[in-house]
Amino acid sequence: MVVLKIVLPVLAAVLAFYAYTWESFSEEMVRGKRVLVTGSSTGIGEQMAYEFAWMGAHLMLTARNETSLQKVVQNCLKLGAASASYVVSDMNDLASARNVVEETKNVLGGLDLLVLNHYGGKSGFGPYQGDMESVISSMTVNFFSYVQVTVSALSMLQESRGNIIVVSSMNGRIPGPFAVPYAASKAALEGFYSSLRTELRLRKIDMPITVAVLGYIDTDTAVGFLDGKISLKASPKELCAQAIVRGGVMRVREVFYPYWITKPVLLIRDWLPGVLEQIIGNSYFLEKIL
Ligand SMILES: NC(=O)c1ccc[n+]([C@@H]2O[C@H](COP(=O)([O-])OP(=O)(O)OC[C@H]3O[C@@H](n4cnc5c(N)ncnc54)[C@H](OP(=O)(O)O)[C@@H]3O)[C@@H](O)[C@H]2O)c1
Ligand SMILES: *[C@@H]1O[C@H](CO)[C@@H](O)[C@H](O)[C@H]1NC(C)=O
Repeated sequence: MVVLKIVLPVLAAVLAFYAYTWESFSEEMVRGKRVLVTGSSTGIGEQMAYEFAWMGAHLMLTARNETSLQKVVQNCLKLGAASASYVVSDMNDLASARNVVEETKNVLGGLDLLVLNHYGGKSGFGPYQGDMESVISSMTVNFFSYVQVTVSALSMLQESRGNIIVVSSMNGRIPGPFAVPYAASKAALEGFYSSLRTELRLRKIDMPITVAVLGYIDTDTAVGFLDGKISLKASPKELCAQAIVRGGVMRVREVFYPYWITKPVLLIRDWLPGVLEQIIGNSYFLEKIL
């Protein structure tokens, strides 16, 4: 039997090789690393800061709310961060975004891992009103400032052979009704960073980019927007942060969380777009939204 004599041994050899070369995550990979986490005053960004903290990273945090940042810095130090500082910034202003990188350089002397996570802007959750303002504000805070921070940090990252984590959303890959400006900014991120990742590799520049594709996560902001309006259950932000940090430290291309919700949906997207639209439509309680 060909299957037994050839296919199985080949399969076993491939698996053995894979297992042998498989590098597994360890906290040693994080100790002493200089990490900038944007949008780290609350939510998933705050939880990612704690993940990096207990593994002994040097942390630079940023957001608008100074009181919250001070609190998160204290928590990071208690958890075992090698150091923790913050810089207040409003990512609606690109000069302020550049300043975050300047401050990081001044305080940490370099950067090993850039974690782009913040999100905001003037659009909440609800029907798109046909205005330009909410789209421009969403694109500025959720897209242009990401690009600004990235280009400002490029030389530091090249020097340290560092890498980048970009926090995206299912709304950047599948339709996001009632979050139109937000979905546009996340789709822009997906296009920019997947293209940049591939281009850098072709140019032999070693700067891996990890894009995290998230479903519904139980942060105050998301629950505040969506509770009672969609039939999905929110997944825990702590596990979400852990999944993103591990994937980013391992320099994988993409992280999906929660995996068994996001992945099957993305599989349906390409082959059965009509079914996908039906599934999306069925998950909103329209009478609570319109
Ligand atoms: N939660 C979800 O269900 C979900 C789903 C998919 C993707 N995501 C993505 O996950 C990431 C984190 O989301 P989250 O739920 O943790 O959000 P969150 O709890 O609302 O946190 C957002 C962070 O961004 C900061 N921020 C907001 N506007 C800002 C501005 N103009 N300038 C600078 N910082 C600003 C906030 O701090 P300040 O208010 O102090 O500035 C906060 O630290 C985002 O990229 C989001 O798109 C979340
Ligand atoms: C900043 O965060 C604190 C909680 O840490 C909150 O009490 C306060 O209202 C926030 N300030 C603003 C301007 O949102």
